[in-house]
Amino acid sequence: QQIPLEMHKVRIVQKLNLPPVERRVEAMKEAGYNTFLLKNVDVFMDMLTDSGVNAMSDRQQAAMLEADDSYAGSATFTKLEQKIEEIFGKKYFLPAHQGRACENILGQVYVTPGKVVPMNYHFTTSKAHITVNGGTVEEVFKDEALNLTSEDLFKGNVDIDKLVAIIEEKGADNIAFVRVESGTNLIGGQPHSVENMKAVRKVCDQYNLKLVYDISLLADNLYFIKTREDAYKDASIRDITRELADLSDILYFSARKLGFARGGGIATNSEEDYLRMREFITLYEGFLTYGGMSVREMEAITVGLDETMDEEYIAQGPQFIQYMSDELQKRGVPVVTPAGGLGCHIDATRFLSHIPQEQYTAGALAAAIYIASGARGMERGTMSEQRDENGVETLAHMELVRMAMPRRVFTLSQINYVVDRIAWLYDNRELIGGMKFVEEPKVLRFFFGKLDAL
Ligand code: F0G
Repeated sequence: QQIPLEMHKVRIVQKLNLPPVERRVEAMKEAGYNTFLLKNVDVFMDMLTDSGVNAMSDRQQAAMLEADDSYAGSATFTKLEQKIEEIFGKKYFLPAHQGRACENILGQVYVTPGKVVPMNYHFTTSKAHITVNGGTVEEVFKDEALNLTSEDLFKGNVDIDKLVAIIEEKGADNIAFVRVESGTNLIGGQPHSVENMKAVRKVCDQYNLKLVYDISLLADNLYFIKTREDAYKDASIRDITRELADLSDILYFSARKLGFARGGGIATNSEEDYLRMREFITLYEGFLTYGGMSVREMEAITVGLDETMDEEYIAQGPQFIQYMSDELQKRGVPVVTPAGGLGCHIDATRFLSHIPQEQYTAGALAAAIYIASGARGMERGTMSEQRDENGVETLAHMELVRMAMPRRVFTLSQINYVVDRIAWLYDNRELIGGMKFVEEPKVLRFFFGKLDAL
């Protein structure tokens, strides 16, 4: 067996608390069986997300002390802007406070009522910012994307035939832009290939469409390209990054993921697009040289992006996720394969075959995993969808519980602990029942909706 090997050492630690199971039952009840609403004092291993919770490096921490605090024209911003140009080859950079802020601006500028945005797969916030502006999302993933036990190494790829078909059907004039998401989040952190990106570019050129590239989860995707796409096995991470970036017109990211800090931004080489989006930065985010980010975070992102170009840094996440998925599988627990980025994804449909989707299969499993282990994951299933205009439940394509892997945060013994608890729960899965909403917000309900046992 391959043991993942950390190419770093731990020099600062933070104490954890493992509440007894009686308290965990209470805490879960208080949180309306929604892991988003748990208080972190009640959580042993926080595997809700890898967003803004990865461990920074010593170089990132050191850089934060050098920040230039000026409101306008900050030298810290110039450093970040130059790093973006160095790595991604994009001249213009617009800073924003996080990924969805970029999506807000892209939505406001390019999406008008009736417009369509084809994409490999939606992300919750990216879809919400398209629909709120009157647009619709058309997913053009390949069929294999929804096969949870696949051998396909690039389940995040766009199905080119479906993309062409949707453009022909809707008419190129009605397409706001084509969106490709790296490390496709909601199907289990699955990558796309460079070859596929080239094919998408070709279609965009043919129909004169903009290609918008969400690189929030690029780090994992780069690692998978390097290790899974034959043509790139000898290429450097930097060269792969540049090749992908060059294929896009506009790229944007959540620096809570890419760059291991907190913030975000949009980059392009088109002066016209830059100018169209720029006014929204000052309207919603802040002045153009910080966009809602603290200068310290911008310093950390600059170093974080640089470190993302180091294969030994970006390997840690995918390797730990592979290990956790393999260990769970050995104990019979159904997980998404191939193991992707972001986290280990558990297939709640097979885990809890006695709970129908209308009773929030994945939501019930996420709550039960917390009670059994003190580790909190995130529901990624029907709870994360929203009802249609008639109030009818939109059943998710899949019911997953994501146990995110904040990078460099947990040790292998902690991962072994959570594997052991989830395996115990699997052996006792008949204890788990379905749920219903008792408080249900209309938009992004999974963030603060409350549920109860049926
Ligand atoms: N795009 C992708 C692919 C993401 O995974 C996220 C966030 C965003 C955009 C939005 O960025 O949170 O900075 O506003 N994903 C987080 C997660 C929330 O937990 O998966 P944000």
